[in-house]
Amino acid sequence: MKVGVIGGGYVGLVSASCFAKLGFNTMILENDKRKINKIQRAISPIYEDQLDSLLKLTIIQNGNLSITNDRDLFFKNSDIIFICLPTPSQSNGEIDLNYILKELMELGKLISKSNKFKFIIIKSSVVPGSTSGIIKSTLEVYSNKKVGFDFGLGVNPEFLMEGQAINNFFNPDRIVIGTLDQKTKTVLSKLYESFNCPKLFVTLDEAEMIKYVSNSFLATKISFINQIANLSENFNINMDNIVDGIGTDKRISKQFLRSGLGFGGSCFPKDVLALYNLSKQYDSTISILKKTLEINNYQPLRVVKLLKNQFDLKNKNISLLGLSFKPGTDDIREAPSLKIVKELIKYDCNISVYDPAHKNTKLPSHQYLHICESIEEVLNNSDAAILVTEWDEFKSLEPVNFSNMNNKLIIDGRRILDPNIYHNSNVKLITIGNSRINSS
Ligand code: UDX
Repeated sequence: MKVGVIGGGYVGLVSASCFAKLGFNTMILENDKRKINKIQRAISPIYEDQLDSLLKLTIIQNGNLSITNDRDLFFKNSDIIFICLPTPSQSNGEIDLNYILKELMELGKLISKSNKFKFIIIKSSVVPGSTSGIIKSTLEVYSNKKVGFDFGLGVNPEFLMEGQAINNFFNPDRIVIGTLDQKTKTVLSKLYESFNCPKLFVTLDEAEMIKYVSNSFLATKISFINQIANLSENFNINMDNIVDGIGTDKRISKQFLRSGLGFGGSCFPKDVLALYNLSKQYDSTISILKKTLEINNYQPLRVVKLLKNQFDLKNKNISLLGLSFKPGTDDIREAPSLKIVKELIKYDCNISVYDPAHKNTKLPSHQYLHICESIEEVLNNSDAAILVTEWDEFKSLEPVNFSNMNNKLIIDGRRILDPNIYHNSNVKLITIGNSRINSS
């Protein structure tokens, strides 16, 4: 069974290299020539743990993985084709299916000329009803053939977390397989037969819904705990104890209950918004999701509010420790750091940022924004530091590391610094969700 993956982005590249490691001959179809060139040399165009070595293994050593921009060659080489194209948010919050539909028109034309039974599997996040509706009809119209009789169609959502994507691929909690026809069900079962986890065989709509509900539920868990943390600051409460107390109840679990600056990234904000919009269209508004997003937008602004309680922010030097939306990635999409920067700029603050994944990034320079190459540099002459991303490098920081600051004030937006070490030091630490036990 030969695997084809359309789209060499985050999900496509990780999935393709993992299928290749499993022993499948795998080809990626990609139109960005610079990306192709890098991947052919086994250099990952994205920052992802273990991906470089996986590309070395699959492209150079065993040759199981290849990449091309030649659609005919790709089609000939692939029995089962995964669609891993982006579905960005549109200005009205709905997802944009155009990248997928354009590709499906081309695939449909190729299917019309082929006498081989191909399987088209949607891995991109698409809202319920998309695959059984416009995706199926586009393929059938452009191929002039029928799903289930001439080609197969399925939905197989991904649950890959950036920074841990390869580990997530090989050790999934479950594999969700949405199909219409028996042949697609059989071929996907075969593809994943070496995996030991539960495999859920569901309808196309159900598979799509599972993806959106998973991400929306996790995002809502984060917004919920963030509001609890905000309230808890009024009491002598350490949120770690609250999470231990509730998370040991297996029905709740401790995961995705880290309070702080809220969620970012390419999935949670987009998926919550898309599910909310879908629910409105069907007059079944999931109003809790609107709150999930509102709370999440507020959390980064709250940090700036905490700073404003300390001093007049006008023209102050503020340092950000972290830029990426979470550790282990250089991805800044929807990152809380961006919301903080935007807010600080309103007060004409001079902002310095250090992030281990962005040491050499040439971000567009801004009058107020300076990218630093070390912790020491970012803290120099600073009036306050905000810890934005919980990189390991920041976890071991001690009061002495802040000695070159102008005013030794730290706001720990990720609750990773130990307030006990700061107690009785000359560094004032304010930890989100912990204010009564803050040191000063
Ligand atoms: C997510 C989903 O987890 C994954 O299954 C999906 O398919 C893609 O989207 P990812 O965006 O890589 O993965 O990041 P994740 O680790 O889930 O974190 C998302 C955001 O939530 C991050 O900004 C993170 O900092 C934040 N978060 C996470 C919290 O604020 N608290 C938590 O307890 C957990």
